[in-house]
Amino acid sequence: MGEASYANNSLLQQKVISLTKPIRDEAITCIYKERLPQSLAIADLGCSSGPNSLFTTCELIETVETLCREKTHESPEYIIFLNDLPGNDFNSIFKSVEYFKQKFSSQVVGGVGGQCYITGVPSSFYGRILPTSSLHFVHSSYSLHWLSQVPKGVEKNKGNICMARTSPLNVREAYYHQFQKDFSMFLKCRATELIKGGRLVLTLMGRNSCDPSSNESCYIWELLAETLNDMVLEGIIKEDKLVSFNIPFYTPSPSELKVEIENEGSFTLNHLEVFEVSWKAACGDEELNDNNNCGYRVGQLMRAVAEPLL
Ligand SMILES: C[S@@+](CC[C@H](N)C(=O)[O-])C[C@H]1O[C@@H](n2cnc3c(N)ncnc32)[C@H](O)[C@@H]1O
Repeated sequence: MGEASYANNSLLQQKVISLTKPIRDEAITCIYKERLPQSLAIADLGCSSGPNSLFTTCELIETVETLCREKTHESPEYIIFLNDLPGNDFNSIFKSVEYFKQKFSSQVVGGVGGQCYITGVPSSFYGRILPTSSLHFVHSSYSLHWLSQVPKGVEKNKGNICMARTSPLNVREAYYHQFQKDFSMFLKCRATELIKGGRLVLTLMGRNSCDPSSNESCYIWELLAETLNDMVLEGIIKEDKLVSFNIPFYTPSPSELKVEIENEGSFTLNHLEVFEVSWKAACGDEELNDNNNCGYRVGQLMRAVAEPLL
């Protein structure tokens, strides 16, 4: 809730969802054309609470409805699962469902299907969250760079709060191993929950560089760590609090993802793409030319994410 909430500071994430639309459209079109399902089951994992929570669902339904019109098919019924951790504000999403359904009913072709059933699934996506073979399509955006836990053995991280340029080797290894363990568990669970031939479209923060502590992944956390260290010096927070604080966050490289997908073995990789998004994407169009305002927006975005962790 309020000005500092994720709901009010998720413009950048929405731009990311928009950028990946063609990939999702292709995947959902393939599934629809291959199976012509009467019921189409879709899950959005790490849906959060805010304007983005039903954004992807809306777009996917629009795409399928366009196909139905082209092929003069009746609409399927849509079964939508919105997943996030149990602490997520599912009530706010549920309150927006009525509005969503009104918009939905003006779009659907109709027929025997043409209904939409929305369910909240409060659980970690690093475990099973839905029954076997219950899904056609799984989507997740801007969530999978969060690990299931802070890796073990990262206590001596030299005043850092995540992997950073000055992190010792054992800290880097611990983060990478946690990512490997989590991501392969994620794939294994989804492979059981998807029907054979089902599809998965995942977007996450990553990096181009082989170096896991490169600026592209760690800089933003290094800035926060610098401030927290200053606050220790000023006696505002205790040093042992800072030493014990690490963020469960890992931005894999394309090759690290590829290796994990191949080793886990349940999925064939159709498409892997890296794209860059400027931090300026956090700003509204009217703020783009005002650096102060843009800096404030990026600060608010980081606050919305980091404040609950802190
Ligand atoms: C930055 S938000 C992205 C939300 C939304 N997909 C978007 O694009 O705006 C990341 C979300 O992932 C959720 N998340 C993190 N770890 C998770 C886990 N293990 N299981 C389910 N959700 C998780 C967080 O609670 C948060 O709501």
